[in-house]
Amino acid sequence: MAAIPHHIAIVMDGNGRWATRRFLPRVAGHKKGLDALRVCVRHCGEVGVKVLTVFAFSSENWNRPPEEVSGLMELLAGALSREVPQLHGEGVRIHFIGDRSRLSDKVQAGLAQAEKATAGNTRLVFNICFNYGGRWDVAQAAACLAARGEPITEHSLDRAMALAHVSDPDLLIRTGGEQRISNFLLWQAAYSELYFSDKLWPDFDPAALDAAIADYGRRERRFGRTSEQTTPARQAA
Ligand code: FPP
Repeated sequence: MAAIPHHIAIVMDGNGRWATRRFLPRVAGHKKGLDALRVCVRHCGEVGVKVLTVFAFSSENWNRPPEEVSGLMELLAGALSREVPQLHGEGVRIHFIGDRSRLSDKVQAGLAQAEKATAGNTRLVFNICFNYGGRWDVAQAAACLAARGEPITEHSLDRAMALAHVSDPDLLIRTGGEQRISNFLLWQAAYSELYFSDKLWPDFDPAALDAAIADYGRRERRFGRTSEQTTPARQAA
């Protein structure tokens, strides 16, 4: 059986284009994107992925039209009340990753409540990056160490990062046809396998996720070593 990535990270791109092609407002694309995300979380649990990290709102997304920003905030608030009980029932542990200070008190309380309610779950760790940026994460980790008077090393920075509770992503998927990182997991994706799909995120179904996982299974991960060092059969040959 092909290797299943322990940790998958996803840039869920293409919601806006999905909506625009249907003459719908962009927020309708994000709603469809939430539907696709619900299915994706369930499928990850079914196939044995243990950690899923998604980019739901970047630090730069505040620059979008106000109605789109408020639509995404409403989607988050709605998801907290509607989706969290269901995810809890499915054994999903939720973490919100990002700068919460700019979110409303009500939403901040909802995030904390969702994390607390699901803290004992072990089937799948689900990290939702919201008001997140990879550069923000490196800076906040460094500031945290400086405030504690601790030396800044690779190890100490890694421990102070917002995703310190999970191992680095094995597979990083970006949908929507673009091939860039867009300030997502800059530190943690150092050795992730990258997979780009032309599908728009609302169309990224379980079959598309299976295709990404199968592609990952064919990759040779060397982590800076040579092929001979990482493949026992080649060592023997
Ligand atoms: C990028 O597509 C997508 C986003 C900025 C938002 C992603 C949000 C969801 C999938 C919904 C889940 C939401 C919550 C609250 C958990 P884009 O709008 O940049 O698409 P485009 O490139 O086609 O314009």
